[in-house]
Amino acid sequence: MKITLKVKRYNPETDDRPYDQTYTLEADPNARLLDALMHIKRFQDGTLGFRKSCAHGVCGSDAMRINGKDGLACKTLIKDVATKDGDTITVEPLRYLPVQRDLIVDQKNFFDKYKAIKPFLINTEPVAKKERIQSQEERMRFDDTTNCILCGACYSACPIPGKLPAFIGPAAIAQAFRFLADSRDRGFEERLPALDRPEGVWACENHFECTRCCPRSILITKRINQTKKMIEKHKTGDGETH
Ligand code: SF4
Ligand code: SF4
Ligand code: FES
Repeated sequence: MKITLKVKRYNPETDDRPYDQTYTLEADPNARLLDALMHIKRFQDGTLGFRKSCAHGVCGSDAMRINGKDGLACKTLIKDVATKDGDTITVEPLRYLPVQRDLIVDQKNFFDKYKAIKPFLINTEPVAKKERIQSQEERMRFDDTTNCILCGACYSACPIPGKLPAFIGPAAIAQAFRFLADSRDRGFEERLPALDRPEGVWACENHFECTRCCPRSILITKRINQTKKMIEKHKTGDGETH
């Protein structure tokens, strides 16, 4: 089928402001949006900038806004975003992060927020046997959150950073939960300063946009609400956090 890609382009070194550029091409409805972008880059316009690596939904590098919704170009089929011959697909960079070139954004702010929640196991207690044992049930409490590929789609989908740029964001909170809910972790207090503040978990308004767009089907909003409950419990001294 014939499709048109309307791509938001911007080179901060040479352009005064972002602008739309359209490309028309033949595409298999079962092909991926990433294939269309690669076709444009190879055969129509080598200057088009976008990131990709694995092309299979694993590395998280090709998150972008596709028809106004955030997702991975390599996991979006043409037929999912264009239903008939001649349809136009709009492609834009992720929101809230500075554009480096076209669809490539500077992810520093996103990763700084991720780092702030200390995304690693914290436990200085000596290991009793060879390893820290965990039951399957204990693991299942946070299993989905271990699948995050740090693509940033949820961060761009969330409406909160638009009005509160310091909001730590859904990915960082989901990753905090990944450790807070881990029976082997003892880092609750250390993570509190990043989470228990107006720009932390409390800024989330349950819009669910993050959960809707996550390419790894992580139950982000649920994990954020569980994190809020854990913090409340901790503050009132009402029971264990694990
Ligand atoms: S939680 Fe999902 S959408 Fe957010 S960064 Fe991780 S994989 Fe991407
Ligand atoms: S649930 Fe919270 S983090 Fe997710 S999109 Fe809504 S406000 Fe943002
Ligand atoms: S290119 Fe790796 S996730 Fe899409």
